[in-house]
Amino acid sequence: MTPVNNAADNLALNIQDLVLEFGHPPEVVRALDGVTLAVPGGTILGIVGESGSGKSTIGFAAGRLMPDGVRPKSGELTLLGRSVWDIEVEDMQEIRQQELRYVFQDPIATLDPTKRIGWQVKNAVNPPLSDEDVVNSLQSVGLTDASRVAAAWPHELSGGMAQRVVIAMATVGDPKVIIADEATSALDASVITRVLELLRDQSRKRNITLLLLSHNLNAMKRFCDRIAVVYAGRVVEHGPTQEVFNAPAHPYTQALLAASAGHEKPGEMLHTIPGIPPALQGASKKCAFEPRCRFALRNSGEKSCDRTRPEQDNITEDWHILCHRWRDLQQESN
Ligand SMILES: Nc1ncnc2c1ncn2[C@@H]1O[C@H](COP(=O)(O)OP(=O)(O)O)[C@@H](O)[C@H]1O
Ligand SMILES: [Mg+2]
Repeated sequence: MTPVNNAADNLALNIQDLVLEFGHPPEVVRALDGVTLAVPGGTILGIVGESGSGKSTIGFAAGRLMPDGVRPKSGELTLLGRSVWDIEVEDMQEIRQQELRYVFQDPIATLDPTKRIGWQVKNAVNPPLSDEDVVNSLQSVGLTDASRVAAAWPHELSGGMAQRVVIAMATVGDPKVIIADEATSALDASVITRVLELLRDQSRKRNITLLLLSHNLNAMKRFCDRIAVVYAGRVVEHGPTQEVFNAPAHPYTQALLAASAGHEKPGEMLHTIPGIPPALQGASKKCAFEPRCRFALRNSGEKSCDRTRPEQDNITEDWHILCHRWRDLQQESN
């Protein structure tokens, strides 16, 4: 009998109202202030927001890569159907070796400087790859001179080549989820697109769920199925890439788009968003973006942006928002 396909069963990652803090009183930093985010298997999701908004913390939480003793205060995080905080230490290590992989900003720092590239690719999985598979894997990420790359030391590679090697290592075996945290931020502009294409092609070919964490919203447009915008530890807008780019509903998404390179008209200065994201020390009691928002309503009762914490609303079935004002703003713009 075919099993009933429940939508929740097909989620690679399911985060519900996750609250996570670092430090001890009075120095507590609330990095995640109630994150809700469901990611269907095989999706390419861009998680975007300014520095300090909580992108990396979401990525680390998925693999439980937190400093010792850090545990969520509340909420749920399910990876490939298993509650991450209930997984045994050895099983979590196994998951990080097999099913969940990371690609970070600095590929040279990710690679072991004392080992040749071929050895590192070979031993990226257990059991190790054959020499032939090492060469195949390097070729699959566009490194045509694979034998030479395999014999090289990390410091002999350019940043772009090294990041290709890291992606080869992240895709060998049978990974289900890859989290690429600012994976192209340290690369030259000329190779950013190629590295993103490579990640996208690997994801499409092998049904790998890909989370692209980036402060550069513009770079995500071509590569992501969906976009989640993070501000002060909450997902403030999450929807299909087309919709979010064509008709951003949250004032923060609008401001980010206006500030991202490529969206300015020729000869026009890049807009910046005045102010900085807050460092939260507890639950935000209002809209965290209110001090910087040009549409905020203040001192105006229950739906006041400076008094009431917004809860998730649905623009469509799969487009979510945290904003008191989104309906008014849509009416005004129509
Ligand atoms: N290990 C840590 N200890 C203390 N605070 C942290 C730690 N990691 C992150 N933070 C804080 O959590 C918030 C979110 O950070 P982060 O997830 O790194 O944001 P992003 O990746 O979007 O730049 C920031 O205020 C940051 O200072
Ligand atoms: Mg980060």
